[in-house]
Amino acid sequence: MKNLIVGALLFSCTGQVNAQSLNLRADNIDQIVKAMTLEEKVNLLVGRNDYLFGGYEEQDTVPRVMDPNISGFTQAVSRLGIPATGLADGPAGAVVVTRPDNKKSYYATGFPIGSLLACSWNVELVETIGQAIGNETLEYGVDVVLAPGMNIHRSPLCGRNYEYFSEDPVLTGKIAAAYIRGVQSNGVGACPKHFAVNSQETNRTEVNEIVSQRALREIYLKGFEIAVKESHPWTIMSSYNRLNGPYTQENRELLTTILRDEWGFDGIVMSDWIRLRNTAAQIHAGNDHLQPGEQKQVDDLLDKVKTNQLSIADIDICVKRMLGYIVKTPHFREYKYSDNPDLKAHAILTRQSAAEGMVLLKNDNAALPLKGVKKVALFGCTSYNFWAGGTGSGNVVKPYVVNMQQGLNNAELETTGNLRELYARYLDYQRIKNRCDRGKSHGYYSEESDIQEMPVGKDCITYQAKEADVAILTIGRQAGEGKDRTIENDFNLSEVELKLINDLCDAFHALDKKVIVVLNVGGVVETASWKSLPDAILLAWQPGQEGGNSVVDVLLGKENPSGKLAMTFPVTAMDHPSSRNFPLNGYSGQRGSNGRENVDYTLHKEGINIGYRYFNTVNKPVSYPFGYGLSYTEFAYDAPVVKAVGGGFKATIRVKNIGKTAGRESVQLYVSAPAGGLEKPACELKAFAKTKLLQPGESEVLMFNVSDYDLASFDESTQSWVSAKGKYLVKFGASIEDIRGAGSYQLSKEFTEKVNDVLKPTMALDELKF
Ligand code: BGC
Repeated sequence: MKNLIVGALLFSCTGQVNAQSLNLRADNIDQIVKAMTLEEKVNLLVGRNDYLFGGYEEQDTVPRVMDPNISGFTQAVSRLGIPATGLADGPAGAVVVTRPDNKKSYYATGFPIGSLLACSWNVELVETIGQAIGNETLEYGVDVVLAPGMNIHRSPLCGRNYEYFSEDPVLTGKIAAAYIRGVQSNGVGACPKHFAVNSQETNRTEVNEIVSQRALREIYLKGFEIAVKESHPWTIMSSYNRLNGPYTQENRELLTTILRDEWGFDGIVMSDWIRLRNTAAQIHAGNDHLQPGEQKQVDDLLDKVKTNQLSIADIDICVKRMLGYIVKTPHFREYKYSDNPDLKAHAILTRQSAAEGMVLLKNDNAALPLKGVKKVALFGCTSYNFWAGGTGSGNVVKPYVVNMQQGLNNAELETTGNLRELYARYLDYQRIKNRCDRGKSHGYYSEESDIQEMPVGKDCITYQAKEADVAILTIGRQAGEGKDRTIENDFNLSEVELKLINDLCDAFHALDKKVIVVLNVGGVVETASWKSLPDAILLAWQPGQEGGNSVVDVLLGKENPSGKLAMTFPVTAMDHPSSRNFPLNGYSGQRGSNGRENVDYTLHKEGINIGYRYFNTVNKPVSYPFGYGLSYTEFAYDAPVVKAVGGGFKATIRVKNIGKTAGRESVQLYVSAPAGGLEKPACELKAFAKTKLLQPGESEVLMFNVSDYDLASFDESTQSWVSAKGKYLVKFGASIEDIRGAGSYQLSKEFTEKVNDVLKPTMALDELKF
């Protein structure tokens, strides 16, 4: 207080800022901006992680105040009491590794991947996980976690889908908002990313995504809109790609007109990690901060101001927003972090929560939970080399990963010894082979990522069938940043995998023993051609560091899986209309602009026909539909009640556990619009809710709120959100194909809301007709 008074006196007596006495506070930001030199301002807008580019040496003038292993930091201006702040990846947990002065490793909890979280359909659960991730961020001395990843699953072949939530924007937005609320409840920031339409990894830093205004507004921006409005993230990350022309990072229509003017975002936008681009365009667009940052960007910005290519007013707006962010951070409030978050408690949380997002795809004759099983024949490389998460910046440096074998052993189940040894040796051999074949540097793809499944001879399988009570086969997939997936041997199962499923089912079924398939994957795989064979299929995703324990908890019925698909499992990858306009076969494009379709530019010819919006509308069979998932128990739905309230409707439905096991049920609310308005998908998800753990016989009333705005589609001819008047059918589904009840809502007067005519596609889209 004394300092404040002295500072104020100095200021008022001299009539100018006395820099000695001026320190940043939440209420003197304008004053600080006035006191800053241009160099100081520009340095605040550019991170300084030159070491990432190999240029950072000890003698550099910028102090390495942060853990060099975190992804980035903003610079300090000590003269004005502006601290540096730290930014760390990523969606499945805070990525913090070491301290410069200390050889000790600091691990973070490896939580389940984004796709699993979305399949939980449980916003409270996701908020709790966000809280834990935010707590680790805080306790490791970091200010922002670069998460959640929330791009739409446009195609199952996108390499980074594991980090993202869903093919549906409402589910994406609500889950992201819960995650952000959880993280930020710790007084650290979240950073939803990558804004926007970062739908492919191929040529991700250059590709021009050409999207109709309607698809943009309804599909690709909607999730961000919901998250911004419902959870007020401190920061947002602009993506690498171009969108309808300019890079998103240089696009004022996206970063200012839509994000700030229309949605009311009041945080900072930081760029995804890229070198020098058009800095003046970035700052003018409202991209407040450039990461990871290099001297060239600082010099360029200074030059742009001095040559009048960028106004001081533009700089000042971004500086002000940066200061507004900084005053919220732990570094600003000098939080004494412990370097010691409660990793044990978080391990328990990840173990339990993973089971809520696992999806039981098949369970014939109640094959699961396993009963009377003592010895398991455990097949599949990933049973022993389990994938807790995906690759790239979303990979958490976790203390350990529990694999399937350890998970079974922890539950006092035996696995057959010779099989264990066979896989161990095969994995070692493959690792060494990959190392030899590829040299030392593996980039994002470690030597383990692309180990092909081990062929197992029929004799071995027959012997195992005699020795064990059940066969468990884990099918694994690894993918991530920088590369899209292929259809062959990735989306599709390999010949070795298909043969293994066949041979296991032949041998074990001959002895009346079951075969369980566990999918330890980060993205959708083909299931239609083989799903009839095994007795049960559990989609375990990449469930975090406790993975093996979480899967075994489900297999043994200690946890009842309650996940439902947040994305469609199509019959073939090509069934998605987007596959016709997606870089197939894992093409990892080079930089440059040679006009290569799907590499230099990608036409979203399918428009809004993403996922179930397409399959359900044209009645195209899928392998497992959106929203689908089995349970060890059953639920009955009462007749729903739908009531108009001012500006929308409220709905309730009672759900009762009519089985013998405790469980949770998520209910999806879909709406079919009346004829007469814009052409719409047959139905669209507008809300969802999940019960608490219901004991047998117990019931719960779930509640849903939908506004007239939520019902609207985007009319390009008037640049408005429009809900046609008429009768809306409100359906309550256990999945999109399993509607258990319906009501209706009468909208007596058309709803419209006009917005700005921005982000027009720069090329003819020639949208597909179905
Ligand atoms: C990724 C971001 C990540 C950043 C920092 C980029 O390559 O696209 O998601 O947050 O690196 O690691």
